[in-house]
Amino acid sequence: MNSNQIRSKFLKYFEDNDHKILKSSSLIPHDETLLFTAAGMVPLKEFFMGSKKPPHNNLTSSQKCIRTVDIDIVGDTDRHLTFFEMLGNFSFGDYFKDLAIELAWNLIIKEFGIDKNKLLVTVFDQDEEAFILWKKIAGLSENKILKINTSDNFWSMGETGPCGPCSEIFYDHGDSYPGGPPGSDDEDGDRFIEIWNLVFMQYEQITKDIREDLPKPSIDTGMGLERVAALLQNTNDDYATDIFTPLINKSIELTNSEEKANSASHRVIADHLRSASFLITDGVLPSNEGRGYVLRRIMRRGMRHAHSLGNKEPIFHKIFPTLLHEMKFSYPELNRAKDLILNILLNEETKFKQTIDNGIKILEDEIKNTQNNLFSGEVAFKLYDTFGFPLDLTQDYLKNKKILVDIDSFNKKMEE
Ligand code: SER
Repeated sequence: MNSNQIRSKFLKYFEDNDHKILKSSSLIPHDETLLFTAAGMVPLKEFFMGSKKPPHNNLTSSQKCIRTVDIDIVGDTDRHLTFFEMLGNFSFGDYFKDLAIELAWNLIIKEFGIDKNKLLVTVFDQDEEAFILWKKIAGLSENKILKINTSDNFWSMGETGPCGPCSEIFYDHGDSYPGGPPGSDDEDGDRFIEIWNLVFMQYEQITKDIREDLPKPSIDTGMGLERVAALLQNTNDDYATDIFTPLINKSIELTNSEEKANSASHRVIADHLRSASFLITDGVLPSNEGRGYVLRRIMRRGMRHAHSLGNKEPIFHKIFPTLLHEMKFSYPELNRAKDLILNILLNEETKFKQTIDNGIKILEDEIKNTQNNLFSGEVAFKLYDTFGFPLDLTQDYLKNKKILVDIDSFNKKMEE
């Protein structure tokens, strides 16, 4: 099943089960407490809180999301992405844990045909009800229902807002992959992959210390399209799916470089192009503050990787048509914004190219002076201030050499 078919199948399944399909909202949330839309439930917050009436009690969507919290390892792993699509179903007081579990289980077993024996789930350890429901509805044995007592199984959208215990569905790729089950010390390995998170929204976090009941217990689920595509395409590498391979192949072609030796850079280029293009579509322009600065950091990190592959000419605008071709049917707004995207990609990369050689020369010179693997915070500041190298770009460059930036002195310079 290709990713477009998976998205359609998910939405159609929930539509057939009394959900209304919602179009993806913008990456720029109405909620001013958030920088970006990072989950399917973000645009629906008011429905959960009861301050606004939803168009239907049950909704489903494939929501564009941005999460940059792990940007420093994007490229190094098979799964970290800054832009992804979250498939979700939501209920505002209509159904709760039992039907949420039943709907999720039937979709993955009957519609997606995933092998039941490869699945296990987690529940919040105080949530005995969810434990019993998984046993009853899915017929899972008790050793396949893991009780977790950390925040991993209690979901909240931020410091405030709707929240509740959750239950996650994992796929076991088998013992040829390293990694332990959820809750174990090596849970972050490649073996057990979370594919779906079912949140039983029950509370609203009002302040850090005050939590109140929501007007109605509700459901919020999130399944990463890229992850489930990997699973259904017999890989556990998101970058080996139909979502990424055309972009990575184009990057290989344009940079005239090999895939394996440079796979991290090709992944970064593919992922960051997606983020940048969708952010520009939703009205973010590169700048030196706020959302625009996040966009600039993403673009420059990607462009630095293109440069490291020996690329002399801007390439992002040349890869964009491949992205457009893959995504325009699901996201027609990408097509409407294409001229702007092409312009901004070219402009930003051209400007950055003018300074990157000088900046990298300064970086390399300073590496020679570096002692105890601590890179001068003052030079990192100069790179940021004069050469447009955001701090994380300098850190990204130094990462393979196992050198850290002296953050205290960087911050001091920044304050000055
Ligand atoms: N809000 C939950 C998450 O982001 C489920 O959608 O994981």
